[in-house]
Amino acid sequence: MSVLRLVDLTKKFGGLTAVGNVDFSVEKGSITGLIGPNGAGKTTIFNLITGVYKVTNGEILFEDEEITNKQPYMVAEKGITRTFQNIRLFKKLSVYDNVLTACHENADYNLLESLIRTPKCRNQEKLLKEKAENLLDIMGLLDRKKIIANNLPYGLQRRLEIARALALNPKLLLLDEPAAGMNPDEEVQLMHLIAEIRDKFDLTVFIIDHHMDLIMGVCERMMVLNFGCKLAEGTPQEVQGNPKVVEAYLGVEA
Ligand SMILES: Nc1ncnc2c1ncn2[C@@H]1O[C@H](COP(=O)(O)OP(=O)(O)OP(=O)(O)O)[C@@H](O)[C@H]1O
Ligand SMILES: [Mg+2]
Repeated sequence: MSVLRLVDLTKKFGGLTAVGNVDFSVEKGSITGLIGPNGAGKTTIFNLITGVYKVTNGEILFEDEEITNKQPYMVAEKGITRTFQNIRLFKKLSVYDNVLTACHENADYNLLESLIRTPKCRNQEKLLKEKAENLLDIMGLLDRKKIIANNLPYGLQRRLEIARALALNPKLLLLDEPAAGMNPDEEVQLMHLIAEIRDKFDLTVFIIDHHMDLIMGVCERMMVLNFGCKLAEGTPQEVQGNPKVVEAYLGVEA
């Protein structure tokens, strides 16, 4: 069963076709990869799904409901959250507060209740704090919760961004190059963690990465983009053996 469907998806920036006539489905519960050379249109696809860009043509369906051109906050409410290629955190807040503020996005009390601190509000606050601690624990950040986000090593900032995305209770998590800037050990650990998160939270993960070998180890299916067009899709083994993919990556005829 597919959770996300891209139908004839197209995005043009002036004369440039960043994404052209892409058809693709992401299976529910899968870890699905999106790979392709620089400028292939990978991030643009995430920006179209999350409503950051308006589509030029085509449709996006999430759980069989059309979400094409919905506002980003509406897409998040439906259950799609993401991380960014350029990390976005509250750099001057602590690691803990970064996650707690994200947990508050789904809080079920209003301003008045929070001002007079009703029992319902106090109870919710407690649950949100527990949730934040739990997410930090899962992401291996609990012992650094008091550190200012900006002072975290780069690889841990990326983990923190994932913790923030998880705080919004996604059904579909979009990760844009989550391993960028990490050393090879950190990269491998992160891929294990992504598989763990998928199981623990019963998620679907759609993940962009540059490193074919890295992403191949964790994905069940993948799509390869080149110059905005779908070049190939299938299991990692199918994609790896595809001569068009070899050519796009190595720039030589296979
Ligand atoms: N807002 C924009 N305005 C104009 N052109 C854009 C815009 N966003 C992306 N593009 C262009 O669309 C194409 C695809 O860009 P995109 O960022 O989606 O590629 P990518 O596959 O994510 O690349 P990378 O691996 O470098 O992150 C590029 O040519 C880029 O310059
Ligand atoms: Mg990109």
